[in-house]
Amino acid sequence: MTKPISVLALVGGISSESVNRSLYAFLVAELPSGMHLETFPIESLPFFSQDLEEELPESVLRLKEAIERADGVLFVTPEYNRSYPGVLKNAIDWGSRPWMRNSWEGKPAATLGASIGAIGTYGAQTHLKAVLSFLDMSLMNHPEFYFNITRGLDENGGLTPSARALVREYLESFDAFVREHISD
Ligand SMILES: Cc1cc2nc3c(=O)[nH]c(=O)nc-3n(C[C@H](O)[C@H](O)[C@H](O)COP(=O)(O)O)c2cc1C
Repeated sequence: MTKPISVLALVGGISSESVNRSLYAFLVAELPSGMHLETFPIESLPFFSQDLEEELPESVLRLKEAIERADGVLFVTPEYNRSYPGVLKNAIDWGSRPWMRNSWEGKPAATLGASIGAIGTYGAQTHLKAVLSFLDMSLMNHPEFYFNITRGLDENGGLTPSARALVREYLESFDAFVREHISD
């Protein structure tokens, strides 16, 4: 039997109609056997302030625990003005703190995202990768996943067959990437 691995997905879209939340749901539906995926409500976190670091808020402690118990992390991001949303940066900043207690360090990670734009979150993911690399995460560089919702969804709002195949291939690659990392 395949050894179970646990993956945390942070979704940068927090609106009820978020297409990135839909993308997360598509990931859940296509998981490789042995991969467990959970998410965290990043909208429950307060805005980062060093004033709050002395006694970390409960939601921040829960985020840091979720990161630390995960074998790998997926970042599912919208694109806002050619970058990724502030709500996601807020969660990333909290996970990196307090000083010398960076929960992201050494974790295998990958980025993906959905947008209405032609370049399907390329700008957002490029900025995001620079930050994750600074935080010493181990990034899967290939395959990449830029999802344009006008091309990737069918008339019922489901994945087209080719988009479904890409989602599966992406998750299988990440599964292998995480397993390689934790067997080191
Ligand atoms: C503030 C803002 C800025 C945006 N900037 C971009 C952009 O730079 N590139 C892009 O492809 N889409 C952009 N969009 C459109 C988003 O792709 C679209 O709103 C998408 O649904 C956002 O993802 P979400 O539904 O998961 O929140 C922007 C939307 C907002 C609200």
